[in-house]
Amino acid sequence: MRQRLVAGNWKMFGNSARNQLLLEGVAGQAASIGQVSCAVCVPFPYLHQARSILAESGVGWGAQNVSQRTEGAFTGEVSVSMLADFGCRYVIVGHSERRSLFCEGDQLVAVKARAVLEQQMTPIVCIGESLDEREGGMTEAVVSRQLGAVIEEIGTAGLHKSVVAYEPVWAIGTGKTATPEQAQAVHAYLRNVVSEQDADVARDLTMLYGGSVKAANAAALFAMEDIDGGLIGGASLDLNEFMSICKAAVR
Ligand code: 13P
Repeated sequence: MRQRLVAGNWKMFGNSARNQLLLEGVAGQAASIGQVSCAVCVPFPYLHQARSILAESGVGWGAQNVSQRTEGAFTGEVSVSMLADFGCRYVIVGHSERRSLFCEGDQLVAVKARAVLEQQMTPIVCIGESLDEREGGMTEAVVSRQLGAVIEEIGTAGLHKSVVAYEPVWAIGTGKTATPEQAQAVHAYLRNVVSEQDADVARDLTMLYGGSVKAANAAALFAMEDIDGGLIGGASLDLNEFMSICKAAVR
């Protein structure tokens, strides 16, 4: 069975006081949403706060990045076992901001996904094309290359325990959402790519759409056959918006 999931990606926003209000609000409201899993991926320093507020709520929490290394003299890095130590269920890997601003390539993203799986957490593997790539007719080639590198590393068995997030770079933080049809077309294509290797994994794979999802457009996106929920940036920082988006994922 495919899981329906809405995950917030707070990016580098928040402070203790604001987070407390947001997390308490999410914890209080999420229980009433049936069939949809909700989660928040917070900056590292707030994992403890997320855990203490969300622990009994059914809402998952996680991180936005992780080191590919297990431990050692890597100043500033955070390991998968540290994230597991804070009860993380999810770790975002390969977000386009990490790929473009911090030079993370397909191979590194794939190794990070494997490291996350090895700690029994769920990688949320982000893929997506830039505007130039879309306009150049490269969308399918780009997303299949990005996903292919991950499958090469973790196999379809690993993919079975992962979540894929399709986030067209041109739609992130721009207010310019992919239409439901545009997003569905890429999701269906990706599911087909996976299906060529393993039909069962393809059928069960949770695929999120991300990029300017708001309460106003979420239901139309989530109504699409191959879109199983969303990865939400800006709108996840607003309690009412985020809860409306979570509710929009109920089938
Ligand atoms: P926005 O929802 O702010 O466009 O960000 C999407 C995103 O990058 C989620 O990972």
